[in-house]
Amino acid sequence: MKHEIFEKNVIILSIGILITVAIGGLVQLVPLFTMEQTIEKVDGVRPYSPLELAGRDIYVREGCYLCHSQQIRPFRDEVERYGHYSLAAESMYDHPFQWGSKRTGPDLARVGGKYSNDWHVAHLVNPQSVVPESVMPQYPFLAQKDLKFDKIAGHLKTLRVVGTPYSDEQIENAVADVKAQAMGEAGEGDTEALLARYPKAKIGDFDGNPGRVTEMDALVAYLQLLGTLVDFTTFKPELAHR
Ligand code: HEC
Repeated sequence: MKHEIFEKNVIILSIGILITVAIGGLVQLVPLFTMEQTIEKVDGVRPYSPLELAGRDIYVREGCYLCHSQQIRPFRDEVERYGHYSLAAESMYDHPFQWGSKRTGPDLARVGGKYSNDWHVAHLVNPQSVVPESVMPQYPFLAQKDLKFDKIAGHLKTLRVVGTPYSDEQIENAVADVKAQAMGEAGEGDTEALLARYPKAKIGDFDGNPGRVTEMDALVAYLQLLGTLVDFTTFKPELAHR
């Protein structure tokens, strides 16, 4: 029995374990170094605007992912219910991704544009007011709490370190962009510049409370963006036209 050598000698056993774990580790890690080639580029996908990013942080903070997935699988029932299946590129700027593994509520990968801002606000404040049988918790405090975004530029900078391609211009204008997106015309922000930096960003007073940027504004801006960046009337998977 050759494995007796390992079982009777701690040093040899340790070396054996080390080699095995090292090989396993390499097998897991090396493919990630080629991530940029692994994820096919898709037109329209862009990093989150500062307001959407702040909304995403609230989504994570409140644990929305515990009940909602953000990954439409390529099966007919899913595609018919939620829309085009999710592409890897659509979450390439998510750190960490919000695919989730639990669907107490519906998948949210393409919820953007499905409802009005007013609906989202009413639903988040009191889900049972619009869906009486809902088991979703109420989040009325989001509309009361001012969004903290004085450090949002640092957040963009940090994301750049891990590979999200924010430009210097985007980082410099981060605070102004939050205000421009959440207050729209009323905020006297430069919405044209914002849209040039973040195409398809939804602009407006999301929470119905102009003059104030609340956590509700950020979360609704994020929800309204989900799944809207790729134009599926023109999208063709790369494999199909190779
Ligand atoms: C305890 C589980 C649970 C948690 C936590 C939860 N939800 Fe829900 N959510 C549901 C259920 C169930 C529904 C379906 C009924 C309804 O519309 O209220 C739902 C529905 C929704 C919908 C409507 C989706 C659609 O396509 O109709 C949105 C948007 C939503 N939730 C957002 C959120 C956000 C944002 C959070 C975090 C702040 C959150 N949910 C937290 C359970 C949950």
